[in-house]
Formats: sequence, structure tokens, C-alpha cells
Amino acid sequence: MSTENVRVEVDYNASIPNNVALAEDRRLLKALEEWHPQYLAWWGDMGPEGFNDKEVYLRTAVGVDPKGWAVFDHVKMPDYRWGILLAPKVEGRTIPFGKHKGEPVWQEVPAEYRSMLRRLIVIQGDTEPASVEQQRHLGATAPSLYDMRNLFQVNVEEGRHLWAMVYLLVKYFGKDGREEAKMMLQRRSGNEDSPRILGAFNEETPDWLSFFMFTYFTDRDGKMQLESLAQSGFDPLSLSCRFMLTEEAHHMFVGESGVMRVLERTCEAMNEAGITDPYDVEAIRKMGVIDLPTVQRKLNFHMSVTHDLFGSELSTNAASAFEAGLKGRFKEEKIDDDHQLYDDTYPVTQLLDGQLIDVEENAIAAINGRLLDDYIKDAKGGIGRWNKMIAKLGIQFELTAPHKAFNRDIGQFSDVCVTPQGDIVEQATFEANISSYLPTESDLNYINSLMKPCYEKGQYATWINPPKVGINQRPVDFEYVKLA
Ligand SMILES: [Fe+2]
Ligand SMILES: [Fe+2]
Repeated sequence: MSTENVRVEVDYNASIPNNVALAEDRRLLKALEEWHPQYLAWWGDMGPEGFNDKEVYLRTAVGVDPKGWAVFDHVKMPDYRWGILLAPKVEGRTIPFGKHKGEPVWQEVPAEYRSMLRRLIVIQGDTEPASVEQQRHLGATAPSLYDMRNLFQVNVEEGRHLWAMVYLLVKYFGKDGREEAKMMLQRRSGNEDSPRILGAFNEETPDWLSFFMFTYFTDRDGKMQLESLAQSGFDPLSLSCRFMLTEEAHHMFVGESGVMRVLERTCEAMNEAGITDPYDVEAIRKMGVIDLPTVQRKLNFHMSVTHDLFGSELSTNAASAFEAGLKGRFKEEKIDDDHQLYDDTYPVTQLLDGQLIDVEENAIAAINGRLLDDYIKDAKGGIGRWNKMIAKLGIQFELTAPHKAFNRDIGQFSDVCVTPQGDIVEQATFEANISSYLPTESDLNYINSLMKPCYEKGQYATWINPPKVGINQRPVDFEYVKLA
């Protein structure tokens, strides 16, 4: 890969830090400078509640060199330098898939795909502020300063991801793009009149276990979408998404390590008290930790809601975006086929004669189904690591990923009742057992009862272990947020 002749220095004196030569494009700069105060107003209204006057130990992207792209420092969130950063351009890059495969990538929007491309960017962009809105109350119940810092880090970076998508809209889509950029700040997560576009982004993130599950499972959908868009034949979208993925990895780390620390605390508490039965919920909850069956139900909820984000397994929209060369597959470049798929099939699980059966479908039609399968494989990695830790602590309990047909609102499983194990059951049976599948009101009330702020430097709430190491080689008792 050649990265010659590419602008990688970031102009940090500009009001909007960037490596896209913003100063040379007066019209674009003006449009973004108009959007900037609206963004800050949105952050004030819908961003983290409280704490905007506190100094937080945040990572800021200052370049795109993989070896040193970020600096860490205490900053107030509204002063965060939200910038526009593209990954280094690859000279001579060609469209990697679809009917234009092998042609030079587009530097401008191809007229015939204008509305499809705009829609893809809007849908991706809309998720970014949505998660900030969903998480806005969590600072008030942070289990430690370390966790609070991680929450705010994720929040400011989702804000930057919105900037990344707004840059594309404003630079490449003229008046429509500016209109879409405005609407990004007008939709609100969970709002009845103008909700966020996708379902999971209108759910609440009411507690910290939800936050960790969200960052593990739902941010991972973000990763899969960004990976697919990073393949795009529209080069500016590809470069934007490639850099966003650098930041996204930390979000999933926050989720995986967060759930790990919750599970570890529970297992250790059980061992200290001599409790061997993970279903002895009353005794376990008495110790102020979260029982493993509740963690499983939370997992079932977050993972199944995230499955819906992939859309219908068989989708003409996804097929068109693939054929057009706008949105590829996960790790497209590593797949050993012709990347056009006219003669290929892909097995898609379907409901046939009352059974769930894999049916070979046209591979282009099955793009979403394949991405969902890739997601499930990826998500199971962390579940396996959680199980290893549970086993190491000697507790007999295994977390499992729910079947992909479980609890679906979108796609071909939305009309059928399937248990987390993948058995089709009558609706009445499903409803009679729902309290063992999904978090109950009493589970949520219990979790909620644990959500008390723990703001002392180096202290952690009863229900979660401290991390093994801090952020940026700082100790775990570092003052990650200066509250005084
Ligand atoms: Fe994001
Ligand atoms: Fe994220």
C-alpha cells in the first residue's frame, strides 16, 4: 500500500481540526462553521448530563499514523477537538467488488448512485449521536472515575463520528447534504415524533450493565457496518470509515472488559461466600453483585436487538448497494471469490414448514444475512473469553449467544417465536417462559438498585472489579475525571 502524496498532517490551529485541507475549501468550511454551534447546542442539550465543566482524561485523535494517532490529556468535554480525519489515501485504489470492480475508485459522488449513497451515510451517521443520547444519564451512576472516563471517551468519539459523516454530507451532497446534517441534530433517541432511524438506537441504556452490553454488542454492529463501508468504491467514505474503526476498537474493549469485570466480581463473591449454585439468586444478590442468569438475560436482549440492525437477511437494498460498489462485505479483500457473486449462493437460515433450515440463496441478495453471520461469529469471541474466566474461577455456568431467530422484530423471524436455544415454540409457551429469556422488571430493578455513584479516586462499586490496568498506562486509581 502506498501512502505517498497524501496529506496526513493535521491542522490543529483551525477551529475544526482536520486533514482534509478544509482551509482551502471556503464553501465547505463556511457550511461546517455554521453547523458547529448547532452541534455544540445539541451536545449541551442531549450529550452527557452534568460533568461538562469537569476535566476528563480523554484521548483526542491528532493524526492518522497508526503508531501515534492520539494524545491523552485532561480536557472539558465541550472543549474536545472534534475533527475531521481521513485515513491515508491508497494510491491507485480500485473498486473492490460489484459491477464496477476493478475501475478506479470514485473521488466524487457517481450521479446514478447519489441517493443510495446519501442514504447509507445518513443511516450510519444517525447512529452516532443516538448512542450519546442513550447514554446521557450514566455519568450520575458511574461505578468509578475510570468507568466514567471511558463512558465520556466513547461519547466524544461518537460525536466525532457524526462529524465524519456530516463532513461527507456537506462536502459532497450540496443543499440536501446540509439539510441532512441539520436533521442529524434534530432526531432524538426514543422520541415519538422524530426518533432515530434504527430501532436499537431508540432503546434506553438505563444502567451500566446495559452500557457495557451496548458497547460490546451494539458498537460491534457499528464495526461491521464501518468495515463494509470501508470497502466502498466511493473513496472519501472508505477513508472516513477506515479511520473511525481505529477509534471503534476502544468502544468494544470498554464493553468486553466491563462485562468481564462484572462477571469476575460475581464469581469471586460467590467463591468467598461458598455459593456454588449460580441460580441461588437471592443469596447472590444479597452480596450486592449481579447473578449470572441475569447477565445471560441482558446478553440475550442486547444481542438480539442488535441482530435487527442488520436488516432483512434477504435484502434488495443491500444487494443494490453491493452491486453498485458502495457497500461491501466484512473483510471483502480476504474473501476468496470473484467479488461480483453473479453465480454464487450463500446459505440463509429460513423458516420452512415450521422448521429453521439453511437455504442456499443468491449471494448478492443474501449480503445482509452474511454480515449478520459474520457479526455473530465475531461477537461469540468475547462470550468465549467471558466463559473461560468463569470456568477459571470454578463456577459451573456458561453464557451463550441467543439463536439469531430469537426475539426479532425485523426480517423473516419477526413473526415466529423462537427460544434463545433456537427452538420454535407456540406464542403461549414463549410468553410463559419469557422471564427466563429476557430481563424481567425485577432484574432491571435489582440492577438499578446497584447503580450508585462511586466517585472516590481508586474506588470501584461493589458489583464490578477494578480493571487490571488503567488507560494509557496510568494506574487504576488515577484521577480520570477531576470532580473537585
Ligand atoms: Fe461510532
Ligand atoms: Fe462506537
